[in-house]
Amino acid sequence: MEYKYNKITLSINGDDLENEKNFITVDDEKLFIYPLKEEFLNSKGGNSNVFKLIDNKTNIEKAIKFSNYFRPKTKKESKRLGKRYNRFLSEIKALYEVKDKYENIIQIDFDGIIEINNKEFPYYVMEKADTDLKEYLHEHQDLDLQERFRLCRDIFHAIKNLHKEEIYHRDIKPDNVLLFLNDETFKWKIGDLGLIQYRDTDYDDIGEKIGPYGWLSPEAMNKFLTEESSLNFDCCIDNQSDIFMLGKLFWFIFNLNAPIGLIKESDFKTEFSNSSMLFDLISQMLCYSKSIRATTPDIEYYIDHIAKELYI
Ligand SMILES: Nc1ncnc2c1ncn2[C@@H]1O[C@H](COP(=O)(O)OP(=O)(O)OP(=O)(O)O)[C@@H](O)[C@H]1O
Ligand SMILES: [Mg+2]
Repeated sequence: MEYKYNKITLSINGDDLENEKNFITVDDEKLFIYPLKEEFLNSKGGNSNVFKLIDNKTNIEKAIKFSNYFRPKTKKESKRLGKRYNRFLSEIKALYEVKDKYENIIQIDFDGIIEINNKEFPYYVMEKADTDLKEYLHEHQDLDLQERFRLCRDIFHAIKNLHKEEIYHRDIKPDNVLLFLNDETFKWKIGDLGLIQYRDTDYDDIGEKIGPYGWLSPEAMNKFLTEESSLNFDCCIDNQSDIFMLGKLFWFIFNLNAPIGLIKESDFKTEFSNSSMLFDLISQMLCYSKSIRATTPDIEYYIDHIAKELYI
């Protein structure tokens, strides 16, 4: 399938990807668009299309994320697309706010608009990761304990820093964690700020499902299941909801599955001799009630202790 754009011709399904047909023009320079991986001749993303972007002169590789939703021009379009389009703009805004401030959050380079059939689709360009956590852990099941723990620590810092900026991520899951490999050094960064919310703002619909199934916090599930009926359950998705999702992610990092239901230490498999401490941390992050769920200082305390045990 081929779309004609103002400045870009994009063959989304992989045809013609070799012939440098797909590009954007920035400051009179052509930047070419390719699939992220050769073995996956398509774009990635649910609400967007993510591709690799190459400057042929410098050979620098970036990632480009196009919104699937264009700028609404009519009331009808606004009703149908406005929220999703605005979420993409919020993602860009938040990425500029944290740019160059925190090392474990993906760095935006620039943003722009492409026109397709008279419709304006926003996009942004960011540093390109080598892979995401889901792909990586499936391919590297032998990753050692220290590295898994460092990964938990890096992503915890990223989320903590977003919270410092009064931003909640709300979409914490393995495919939104990106890996940068550099001469044997690892850096994990949080990406996909497409569902963020600023503190004290609420643009969500009543009863809207916010976040991915399987990773939702109790509050997100309450919102989805009960908010319309005003049953007085906690439906407020906030920083503590990110902690819940992070607890699931920590478990995934060690076990490669996601915890559902009443978790027991016997279900938690690690080679760590003091795995009880890690299990305690995760189970406190996964408390149903926010009032007893682990807080950021609690997690910092555990992380310091576990790091010492692991000689990190
Ligand atoms: N900077 C990047 N470098 C390399 N790969 C990336 C980058 N950003 C995103 N990806 C890949 O593209 C996928 C989709 O990106 P992202 O999650 O930002 O889009 P999305 O449309 O919000 O996706 P979804 O709704 O499916 O979570 C990621 O899971 C990751 O595999
Ligand atoms: Mg994503």
